[in-house]
Amino acid sequence: MPITTVVFDAYGTLFDVAAAARIAAAEPGREAFAAKWPEIASLWRAKQLQYTWLRATSNTHCDFWQVTQDGLDYALEATGLASPELRERLLALYWQLSAFPEVPAMLDALKAAGYNTGILSNGSPEMLAGAVKSAGIGGALDTVLSVESIGIFKPHPTVYAMVDQHFSTTPEQVLFVSSNGWDAAYAARHGFQTVWVNRVGEPADRLPSAPQHMMQDLAGIPDLAAAL
Ligand code: LAC
Repeated sequence: MPITTVVFDAYGTLFDVAAAARIAAAEPGREAFAAKWPEIASLWRAKQLQYTWLRATSNTHCDFWQVTQDGLDYALEATGLASPELRERLLALYWQLSAFPEVPAMLDALKAAGYNTGILSNGSPEMLAGAVKSAGIGGALDTVLSVESIGIFKPHPTVYAMVDQHFSTTPEQVLFVSSNGWDAAYAARHGFQTVWVNRVGEPADRLPSAPQHMMQDLAGIPDLAAAL
């Protein structure tokens, strides 16, 4: 069945989650942070995601802004760099993440070809609105779906079903794109066609399902959607 709808994960897929730490590291007076920022960014992201899974499996949901702050607090303390000023700066930058360079042209190509487009994200509606606005991609997205409307994080199956309900599509009409291998894997289990955007050559996650396609960046998405 041809693809009618292309849906993207947000953080790490359209938006560069390392940008907040990278920008802060380049600011004057942050030499200690600059020496460790890749480690801190990676730990921040890992803890943020772990907390989403723990919140989902323990039925203790909170929004993504809470786990984003909690993950950062853990990462700063673990690396000996806890500071209210640095914390506030990194959190402020998280609301204005840049999109990866190929994103605007890729989304415009999908819209020109007539696809429905959207985001399906753990992010809160407010965080997603901030990132979409600062990246300037709102005009090429038909919808931004947040898990906050159902109150449980990915990869709970009800999250992926939000797409079917919103677009009145069947899963095989949807191409779902994520840089998180586990997200793409569970989206494939839901029945979507899936692409894992694997920018840095990570190994595949060992899970009960697997994404059908892998790409290094997002530039090839319109051609893949047309070929399916
Ligand atoms: C999201 C996280 C998983 O945007 O990156 O849903």
